[in-house]
Amino acid sequence: MAATNAGGPVAARADGIWKVYGSGEARVAALRGVSAEFGRGRFTAIMGPSGSGKSTLMHCLAGLDTVSEGTVHIGGTEISTLGDKALTRLRRDRIGFIFQQFNLLPTLSAAENIRLPLDIAGRKADPQWWDTVIGTVGLKDRLSHRPSQLSGGQQQRVACARALMGRPDVIFADEPTGNLDSRSGAEVLSFLRSSVREHGQTIVMVTHDPVAASYADRVVFLADGSIVDELADPTAETVLDTMKRLDAPSDSVML
Ligand SMILES: Nc1ncnc2c1ncn2[C@@H]1O[C@H](COP(=O)(O)OP(=O)(O)O)[C@@H](O)[C@H]1O
Ligand SMILES: [Mg+2]
Repeated sequence: MAATNAGGPVAARADGIWKVYGSGEARVAALRGVSAEFGRGRFTAIMGPSGSGKSTLMHCLAGLDTVSEGTVHIGGTEISTLGDKALTRLRRDRIGFIFQQFNLLPTLSAAENIRLPLDIAGRKADPQWWDTVIGTVGLKDRLSHRPSQLSGGQQQRVACARALMGRPDVIFADEPTGNLDSRSGAEVLSFLRSSVREHGQTIVMVTHDPVAASYADRVVFLADGSIVDELADPTAETVLDTMKRLDAPSDSVML
């Protein structure tokens, strides 16, 4: 099935994308003709069991990996045909990333980590936006700390601030709460949620956690490299119900 955005503006789009790793005996089709739209100013979760292709889809959408077939658009730009240099620039200027392992540079302070993508792009942080973001993630007193001096939750909040500071067209987050306790995870998710609601940020988040997915506006479900379902205005219960239904063997008789 193709997951569309019901006519709203689209921040990222996949059209019939395939991703095949290896060849011969080792051939793995991680994505099998995925078509999906991700709405601007919306928080979309991508869910599915381990190995279903979630990270591969995110990497292809974000230009971190190339597709074997099909096209990817970020806004109006088709990225599947861009060369390395243009792709690097697009990632730098228009996309923010949040990873499960935080990916902060250990020798830099929190403030330096947050500023790094802008520094590399030769841009300055807008002072008002800086204060807003730092205030919202609650890092005012931690800005001079190195990552090793921060808890996991604080490190991920630094990573969120880093992703938001450049006001990218899309933030891609791969299991952003996967390494956090539930309380720190909830803080990070609330923060992502409010950046969408209050500041119109676009977020695409990969997760296998129904509670995390319930913070999104919409959930797209992957299984074996294909989109198999989607859900609007999810709750943890409706996400869980959908997962159970997708898990049930198709030939089973429901009594
Ligand atoms: N670099 C790679 N080389 C070979 N196979 C890969 C590679 N990356 C992912 N895969 C395979 O593609 C499938 C989807 O992986 P992935 O996108 O990481 O799933 P998920 O994030 O949903 O757990 C899996 O079968 C995985 O083993
Ligand atoms: Mg993954």
